[in-house]
Amino acid sequence: MSDKAVVLVTRKLPQAVEARLEQDYDARFNNEDKVYTSEELIELAAGADAIIPCHTEKLTAEVIQRLPDSIRAICSFSVGYDHIDLDAARARGIIVTNTPEVLSDATAEIAMLCMLGAARRAYEGEREIRTETWADWSATYQLGIQVTGKRLGILGAGRVGQIMARRARGFDMEIHYYKRNRLSANLEAGAIYHESVEALLPHCDFLSIHCPATPETHHLINAERIALLPDGAVVVNTARGAVVDDNALIEALRSGKLFAAGLDVFNNEPNIDPRYKELANTFLLPHIGSATRETRDAMGFRALDNLDAIMAGGEPRDRLV
Ligand code: DGY
Repeated sequence: MSDKAVVLVTRKLPQAVEARLEQDYDARFNNEDKVYTSEELIELAAGADAIIPCHTEKLTAEVIQRLPDSIRAICSFSVGYDHIDLDAARARGIIVTNTPEVLSDATAEIAMLCMLGAARRAYEGEREIRTETWADWSATYQLGIQVTGKRLGILGAGRVGQIMARRARGFDMEIHYYKRNRLSANLEAGAIYHESVEALLPHCDFLSIHCPATPETHHLINAERIALLPDGAVVVNTARGAVVDDNALIEALRSGKLFAAGLDVFNNEPNIDPRYKELANTFLLPHIGSATRETRDAMGFRALDNLDAIMAGGEPRDRLV
């Protein structure tokens, strides 16, 4: 019998990450990369010391209560941790970690892509090329909204939001933001601070959502708050679908209150609200904010650094509970 710690790895991870796991642990891999049901996850965790889940595994209070006593750590391969009931983990003495920082650049890139794709009607253009319905160039054809020089509102100016602001300055955008605690002047770098979400919204030609999904931010972007945006604004979401009320956003896209939306995250992924797909003024991506080779390796190594520290009896860098 191996004296290595047993680790349940719930999804297929990048090759280099699995190689390190294989070398240092008795790892239970998911070669088919299927999403386990809660029952399967609990069963597969039998006798394991730790779990490396992704955001696709819902570690609810009920699931955590039913995990075997052997589980000492949950080292998530994600920065978001809305899929893990931290109170339930704390109650069972299970350490939980995430992978901050390493995916901020990649996610900000996708936020830029969503902003540009929505503003410049990238989906419609792509569709016309691929379906051979592009008639010809015309001076009035497929007119979008210019991004350069416009006002960008950052909702939740944490790591990703701050990088998004830096990238957007390259487009001469005027940055406005809301964050629970105001940034230092150095980090603010000239961005205009607003003391509430409601105060921020009227200043956003573009609104980019970067706050985590928590009970407080659930459906934060609802009909009342969308009404505070300027007419013809663009909404970008690369954080979590739960921050947006789909009914309100879809209604605003249909009515023309909003010009467009660029979305990388959704409620109920991957079975998203089908109405988004019927709208031409949406630019939709399948939750690929962190999906670069470099970043997914870095996320895996960061999760393993946390796991190594816990298994060695030390303090992990990214401890949540
Ligand atoms: C994250 O790390 O939270 C990303 O959304 C991928 O799970």
